Amino acid sequence: MTDFTVRHPEEHERRPTQNMVARALHYRPFTDEQWAFGEHLLSAERTFGAYEDGLPIGMTSSAAVDLAVPGGQVPAAAVAWVGVRADRTRRGVVSELLTTQLRDCRERGEPVAALHASEATIYGRFGYGVSCQAKYVVVDRTRARMRADVPSTGSVRLLSDAEAPTVPREIYRAIDLHRPGMITRDEPWWRWGHDRVLERDGRLVAVHRDHHGVDDGFAVYRPVSLGTFEQPVAGGALDVVDLHAANPGALAGLWRFLLSIDLVAKIRVKSRPVDEPIDLMLEDPRAATVTGLHDHLWIRLADVPQALASRTYAHAEPVVLEVRDPRLPENEGRYRIGPDGVERTSADAGLTLDVDTLGMLYLGGWPASALAGIGRVHAVDPSALTRADALFSWARPPWCGTDF
Ligand SMILES: CC(C)(COP(=O)(O)OP(=O)(O)OC[C@H]1O[C@@H](n2cnc3c(N)ncnc32)[C@H](O)[C@@H]1OP(=O)(O)O)[C@@H](O)C(=O)NCCC(=O)NCCS
Repeated sequence: MTDFTVRHPEEHERRPTQNMVARALHYRPFTDEQWAFGEHLLSAERTFGAYEDGLPIGMTSSAAVDLAVPGGQVPAAAVAWVGVRADRTRRGVVSELLTTQLRDCRERGEPVAALHASEATIYGRFGYGVSCQAKYVVVDRTRARMRADVPSTGSVRLLSDAEAPTVPREIYRAIDLHRPGMITRDEPWWRWGHDRVLERDGRLVAVHRDHHGVDDGFAVYRPVSLGTFEQPVAGGALDVVDLHAANPGALAGLWRFLLSIDLVAKIRVKSRPVDEPIDLMLEDPRAATVTGLHDHLWIRLADVPQALASRTYAHAEPVVLEVRDPRLPENEGRYRIGPDGVERTSADAGLTLDVDTLGMLYLGGWPASALAGIGRVHAVDPSALTRADALFSWARPPWCGTDF
């Protein structure tokens, strides 16, 4: 049994602690140049380290964000940099760290924690559920032609090196959080997630401007050679790493531009919304292949009553949910949920479920009836399923679209 303490890192411990996680995630330790970006990424007061004999053996951190939920936004912890030193795993280190972090979220008034998982088997036991999926798509550019009826609402320009850091920030802010699951990006995120990668491998940024002169979408992409030693002329790919559009016209315009770039055989996009109609914009929809459909944003309700009260519900008769949460027992109980709001109740439960499954329902990504069908929701009263399906539903599937 390892003897360790969980606490915030002291100033001199920040870099060694982040280096330890970098190693756990199979990255190299921070170079001085990376640290210039990395040192501001995480705030010490939102970081928890596990220390054994004064040395870091585990860490978790989070950023304060606003998360879009159906009908509004909620303060949330965007959890990242979770890792345990390889020779100290399976001794309860991350369990202690993540539980401490969830209690900290509640105290900060952040009722929701969110993350992207390296492995889908880790976080369910800590009460996180897959709120939405995202798709990976490869477009065969040699076959792909845009349909003539796809709207054309503006034009695309490539940003200069001077504009590339700033303009996407402005567009992302103006686009706003228009889907449940989207989060705000703070300045440290932009420096680490955007400026650093532009500098590191010279990524390009294309911007769509509508007919009224408003910039309403951007795509950050990187050309990659598909050639091998044996086949040097196999062509190239474009990897699109960050793409946001305020409307379908901007999305179509950015795709029209990407498809027009010469010397490209494939365009690869990752983590796109499940309902984004890339294939349907093409004369031959099979020129676009979905190569993966994965868990995207994991949601944990750290403060169940606060979180439930922070979203709106569609019109339907109320339903009573009984929530189990052994890790944070203060969340346990019955909640009456209806279009007028949420309250604790002693009434009989219509549905019972664990808090990770509630995280799956929360953004409207999965109907309760589908989760009941796979044993994740127990319907004490079967009619409650139809009501819960209606109450939690939302017009657009959730999607985050920000790597963190
Ligand atoms: C994943 C990781 C953080 C787990 O840390 P840990 O300290 O070993 O976890 P714990 O000892 O607290 O384990 C808690 C439980 O989770 C299980 N578990 C831990 N890691 C797991 C994994 N990768 N897959 C499946 N189960 C896992 C443990 O078996 C244990 O189960 P139990 O409660 O039934 O006994 C650690 O292995 C690690 O750093 N991995 C590499 C980096 C990484 O993947 N980080 C996550 C980034 S999103």
